[in-house]
Amino acid sequence: MSAYLKNAWYAAAWSHEVGRQLLKRIIMEQSDASGKCVYNPNGNQVVPAAARLRTYALAEHNGILWIWPGDANRADLAQLPDLSYMEDPTRYAPVTGYLHVRANYRYITDNVMDNAHVSTVHQHTLGCESFLRATPHVKPQEGDTIWSYMTCPPGLPGAIWTEIWKAEHAGSAPGPMDHWVEIGWKPGATVMQETGMTPVGQPREHGIVTLNFHLMTPETQETTHYFWGICRTFQLNNSELDEQMKLGAAYAFSQEDEPMLAAIQAESGSQNFWAMKPSLIAEDIGLTKVRRRMDELMRAETASTDAGGFDR
Ligand SMILES: [Fe+2]
Repeated sequence: MSAYLKNAWYAAAWSHEVGRQLLKRIIMEQSDASGKCVYNPNGNQVVPAAARLRTYALAEHNGILWIWPGDANRADLAQLPDLSYMEDPTRYAPVTGYLHVRANYRYITDNVMDNAHVSTVHQHTLGCESFLRATPHVKPQEGDTIWSYMTCPPGLPGAIWTEIWKAEHAGSAPGPMDHWVEIGWKPGATVMQETGMTPVGQPREHGIVTLNFHLMTPETQETTHYFWGICRTFQLNNSELDEQMKLGAAYAFSQEDEPMLAAIQAESGSQNFWAMKPSLIAEDIGLTKVRRRMDELMRAETASTDAGGFDR
């Protein structure tokens, strides 16, 4: 079985990193749209027929440049995730970041699907005590998306959520809250998340909500390009809060998640996940469903002869 699911969309870059003119110029000057080289400045200027780039389907969507590493003929725009909140400044304030992670992309997916890690790995930042008393559950698969939920009994919020609440409520400290986390995964490694808290018993609209995404793009079997975004629904024009949220998330991801993931990778090497006989707890229900679905898709792709794309 291939180590990667090729027929799926992966984040290649933020759109703003890749100027359209630059992209167009590189392609137009040296090759045509099919990848065939059209430029040889030397001697007779004949271009060998075999001089051809591999080409991949690309799409720009919600401020992200996406790549489909498999068969370009199967690239399906309908499979792109809906991250339109990234482009609606009248309702959402997004912050984004990128991290190079020293772990296989599937371990990162496991981690962001795993609600239980928040109260341990992020004990002093995002986590709160009530997460330990939460009930995990999953919904039946919706299209190609698997949803995993965590609903928490009342509890005081963690450090970062307390600061966010204070920013929204003129500095007053939050009381006990109902917390919720809803996480959806789409193949190959797109995770969408809604997290929020509201005063106990109040409707969710009375609380604060963030819509998040985690996009894992394999670099090698042991390293990953990790793109993340967090959109809040409050204090839309507070640039200081933008900075605080970006710093807080970057700290949690780079100082708390990444070292743990790197350690898992170093310890497990190239061993098959299931062959290591992982000890699963009830809270692993979401990531287990995702693991099994991903295995199915990868097996089916490997069995088919038209996976296309690269083979690394
Ligand atoms: Fe985390």
